[in-house]
Amino acid sequence: MTRLRALSLAGSILILLVTLWAALLRIGWDWPTFTPQLAGMHGPLMISSFFGALIALERAVALGKAWAYASPILAVIAGLLSIALPGWLILAAWLLVLSSALYLAVGAAVIQRQSAIFTWLLEAGVLTLLVGNFIWALGYPIFLAVWWWMAFLVLTIAAERLELGRLQRLASWAFPAFYIVSVAVGAGLLLTLWLPGTGVRVLGLGMVGYALWLARFDIARRTVKYPGLPKFIAICLLIGYAWMGLGGVLMMIYGPVPAGFIYDAMLHTTFVGFVFSMIFGHAPIIFPAVLRLPVRYTPKMYAPLVLLNISLILRIAGDLAQQRVWRLWGGLFNAIAILFFIGIIAVTVIRSKRAAPA
Ligand code: HEM
Repeated sequence: MTRLRALSLAGSILILLVTLWAALLRIGWDWPTFTPQLAGMHGPLMISSFFGALIALERAVALGKAWAYASPILAVIAGLLSIALPGWLILAAWLLVLSSALYLAVGAAVIQRQSAIFTWLLEAGVLTLLVGNFIWALGYPIFLAVWWWMAFLVLTIAAERLELGRLQRLASWAFPAFYIVSVAVGAGLLLTLWLPGTGVRVLGLGMVGYALWLARFDIARRTVKYPGLPKFIAICLLIGYAWMGLGGVLMMIYGPVPAGFIYDAMLHTTFVGFVFSMIFGHAPIIFPAVLRLPVRYTPKMYAPLVLLNISLILRIAGDLAQQRVWRLWGGLFNAIAILFFIGIIAVTVIRSKRAAPA
């Protein structure tokens, strides 16, 4: 299983690098590409393939069964196939459907072992990934699938916060409020299929609800006062919740925009601001525990976090003010911040391995 883990991890990192390149082509950098379809592949590669593989890998490690690795491996194969042979995109899309269906089965096995709110929420997240992949594989435009993909990341991360048990002692109204917000998210998603104008707004409202709920009940508000790693994690979390809340507000204001500046702002407040702030914050705890990578916290991690946030402010301001150049540079530095963080992680892993006794 160590080999399966290493293969899935290496494959997903390769896909992340290619999809970041695709993102920069997509935002307008006139750089070389080996296939004209690459820019258009950025969204599915990033979510269904890279995050699909990484998150399913985390669950496969938790389940500890060899068959569970089929999901991340299929997501990686589908990603590599769509990059190498864009003419086979439809096959890649159906492989991604299969990968997420398998991931759903992994989630069901996890629930059999442990039935808790967070395992059910994780499973709901996988279901939204499966529906999003299905919509895309059937040939519908990506902007119809994208809300389901967004819910996949939002629900998965919310579930991980519950799982990590980092929540303060909860008030009696906390869980009822959580369920109401979750119903809004589910209803919003379903409505995007028939009444997108209402659906995207209700989904946006649900995301604002999640952001407020997490900001209120996550222990981050207390740990932000501690030094070192707890402070770093708490800052990442609180920033992430703020970005998700802003994304939800934009969705409520603008509704279903299928492309362009506002679409970019609605998506990337959550995809870059929320998701990557959470990844930066969780990496020093999740990577060692789940992926068995000896990642150590270092204060240098603040540098990519600051870069990510300043460049995202520039990008979103560019989107809202329709300033192409701000968006262009903001997007470039978003990608640089992500690469910078990966570089720091890689250095800490190499140093820890060298320091470990043979
Ligand atoms: C890091 C730098 C990134 C850049 C420069 C970037 C750039 C872009 C651009 C320019 C678009 C098209 C917006 C438009 O219609 O004008 C787009 C769409 C999209 N992005 Fe990103 N992105 C980045 C990161 C991410 C991340 C981290 C995710 C997911 C977690 C993501 C997921 C998506 C998705 C799903 C779409 C919709 C695709 C479609 O409609 O075809 N992006 N991105």
